[in-house]
Amino acid sequence: MAAGIDDIAIYIPKLYVDATDFAVARGLDPVKLQKGLGISQMAIVDANQDPAILAANACLKIMQKNKLSPDDIGRLYVSTESSFDESKAMNSYVIGMLEQVYGQDTFEHCGGVETKFACVSGSYALYDNTNWIRAGEAEGKCALVVVSDIAKYDMGSSGEMTQGAGAVAMLLNDDPRLLVFDPKVTSTSIKDEYDFYRPFGKETPIVHGQYSNLLYMIQVRKALEAYKRKAVSTGLIKIGADETVLDHVDYINMHLPYSNMGRKALAYLVRHEWRQLPRWKKVLQKIGSEEPVPNDPQGTIESVLGDEEFMTKDHEFTKMFTKTPEYQEVYEAKLASSLIASSMIGNLYTASLYLGFRSSLEFEFQKRVDLEGKRVGFGSYGSGSSAMVFSGVIQPRYKEIVEGMDLEAEIGKRRRLTWDEYEKLHENKLSPDESMLQPTKEFALVHVKTETESRGERHYIFTE
Ligand code: CAA
Repeated sequence: MAAGIDDIAIYIPKLYVDATDFAVARGLDPVKLQKGLGISQMAIVDANQDPAILAANACLKIMQKNKLSPDDIGRLYVSTESSFDESKAMNSYVIGMLEQVYGQDTFEHCGGVETKFACVSGSYALYDNTNWIRAGEAEGKCALVVVSDIAKYDMGSSGEMTQGAGAVAMLLNDDPRLLVFDPKVTSTSIKDEYDFYRPFGKETPIVHGQYSNLLYMIQVRKALEAYKRKAVSTGLIKIGADETVLDHVDYINMHLPYSNMGRKALAYLVRHEWRQLPRWKKVLQKIGSEEPVPNDPQGTIESVLGDEEFMTKDHEFTKMFTKTPEYQEVYEAKLASSLIASSMIGNLYTASLYLGFRSSLEFEFQKRVDLEGKRVGFGSYGSGSSAMVFSGVIQPRYKEIVEGMDLEAEIGKRRRLTWDEYEKLHENKLSPDESMLQPTKEFALVHVKTETESRGERHYIFTE
């Protein structure tokens, strides 16, 4: 049985920090954010918002748009790494909010859990729910997978410039208008790592930034190797001489902690794939040098990062490589459109990859590309760490969904925060009733109880 994504909806907080304001306040060169990292704005949550609200707002949008009732939904999964409870799953908060609109107990039949594995857990949730449908367990119902996060780092840390917030809701069924997942090729890699983690009780993560960048690329490369093996052995893709698996994937969506990480990761994967091919010689001729090799080629990630001579040469080589027409062609055709939304919104952790997919659909469609039958690849990464590589094919009825996409209209009118406002929100100095914006037709947080017996209970309302 086929299964995949029928429709996709986003909810992005309307407050944002402008990259230039951020750079000025932190004494950085604005070009580092804009060109170095690809960040223009970072969405920031208001004082009356939390990750469950972002998820519920995205769910409500997709349900209203498709005129779905709770009876149409068999499973509701929420994937997040911004969880605020160690036991109560975020999907239960979301169901509580949705029942304010659809009526008490209307989601009683709807199973689901909150999933966690840093930024990759949404991909595991998609895979599990796709298999629930493929197994014929859905009884004609759809699954809702919502990825929702607030990417928040310590004040003054190097991660602070890669913040953002938002949720993406994806509706899955057995006759999707948008994308059918390719069967039997989903591939993973996993390793116990401390590149980025958030211990109990800490609101912001502990991050080893450069380590996490390199680990991300290594893990996705390993998952891609497994994907390639499966794609060939199942007959999904036939790789000819002087070809790589990437030649058979029309669009590539990467996990985007910041927009340029997609560019960086694609360059790393393409280099890895092209190295064995005749075309590599031509590329090396254009660059004018051999590919640098670490002083200890069998070394650890730490030893590679500590090998300054290699890192400098490799940085230079990557820069030259990404300027070659061969790489530029791949970048423009397969990746560039997926990066646009990320630069406007910032890091969405679990939701970043899917915001990128949404962005690619809208901006490729605007270029009048016929997307039907195109294969879309996904490179998902979660710190800690695991990667997942999988793919799907765009369906004949995709236009019903994609022609209505308008990122700016979906975000709505945004408000640029002053530095003082940003700091107050970041330091949680405002209570929900001191929010910057008055929500309309959205869920909002009213109160979090502090009494011993009910500590942590959250009270939400839907505002008309
Ligand atoms: N003008 C133009 N470009 C400039 C510049 C300037 N003045 N200054 C720096 N740059 C460029 C650099 O050359 C670099 O480009 P390349 O990536 O092409 O080399 C880029 O801007 C970033 O500069 P640095 O690498 O020096 O930046 P940094 O070390 O200060 O911080 C970061 C970058 C490590 C990503 C940091 O923001 C961070 O720790 N972020 C959080 C962790 C993260 O996002 N990790 C990503 C992988 S892990 C993951 O994906 C999980 C997750 O979601 C968090």
